[in-house]
Amino acid sequence: MTVKTKFDIRPLSDGFGIEVLGLDLREPLSAQDFEILRRAWFENAVMVIRDQDLPPADQVAFSRRFGDLQIHVLAQFQLPDHPEVLLLSNEKRADGTAVGFEDAGRYWHSDLSYMDHPSLGTMLYAVRIPPAGGDTLFVDMYRAFESLPPATKARIEGRHAFHSYVRNYVRNESKPGIRPQLTDEQKARLPDVRHPIVRTNEDTGRRALYINPGFTFRIDSVEEAESDALLAELFAHCLKPELLYTHAWKPRDYLCWDNRGTMHHATLYDPKYIRHMHRTTIKGPSPV
Ligand code: OGA
Ligand code: MN
Repeated sequence: MTVKTKFDIRPLSDGFGIEVLGLDLREPLSAQDFEILRRAWFENAVMVIRDQDLPPADQVAFSRRFGDLQIHVLAQFQLPDHPEVLLLSNEKRADGTAVGFEDAGRYWHSDLSYMDHPSLGTMLYAVRIPPAGGDTLFVDMYRAFESLPPATKARIEGRHAFHSYVRNYVRNESKPGIRPQLTDEQKARLPDVRHPIVRTNEDTGRRALYINPGFTFRIDSVEEAESDALLAELFAHCLKPELLYTHAWKPRDYLCWDNRGTMHHATLYDPKYIRHMHRTTIKGPSPV
């Protein structure tokens, strides 16, 4: 599929997703072109807009066209003048403190699925990337759902699962030096939530599996051992290579993903290099 507008939209090779070329997000974008972009993104789940030179204010303004923005619970990593922008970075200040969230998302997850209103979409702007590594991996959760055996589909139809931020975070807190401890006040703002296991994207009508190893810990109304076994089976299915897209970052990529139909995973890189990203997240509806 190639759509002709002022900018080009092309499929990404191997896997799924699209790339957009010839678009400068600092310039005005007509309502019509915006709609083409929005549809293309939601239909393809992952969209990278190449070659951006994007000040935080423009990133915030563009992100806002899709909906209200979310402010991350880790307030210490918000950009000072733009709390909507979360800094992901391994850079340290002269006093050794972290300027950004260093090990964000190094596990399979869908952003903020632990909230009543998870992120509809996430936008990550690559300010600085390492020469190798630090890829972001994606699973197509639409095809994950569609390719399930009918018997498994029947087992999850109409069911819900619980998601938690705190359980996963506490597991990772033990890694020294990287993760700040969650305060009791931060924990209190993060109670467990319950979402449907199969979610419908309101914009496309497509159904996706909406569970992830990072935050989903229990299927509702199912005995614990059975819940654990079924989740393990579903996660193994999702991680089949044919459902995967690996985003190897290019400088100045602006990567957008639809959290309703994907999960993603950050990967490691040599810490002698700086990886510095600006992230905005769009508030979504309560999943149905
Ligand atoms: C995120 C995230 C992955 C990455 O920002 O939500 O998971 O590769 N980031 O930085
Ligand atoms: Mn994430």
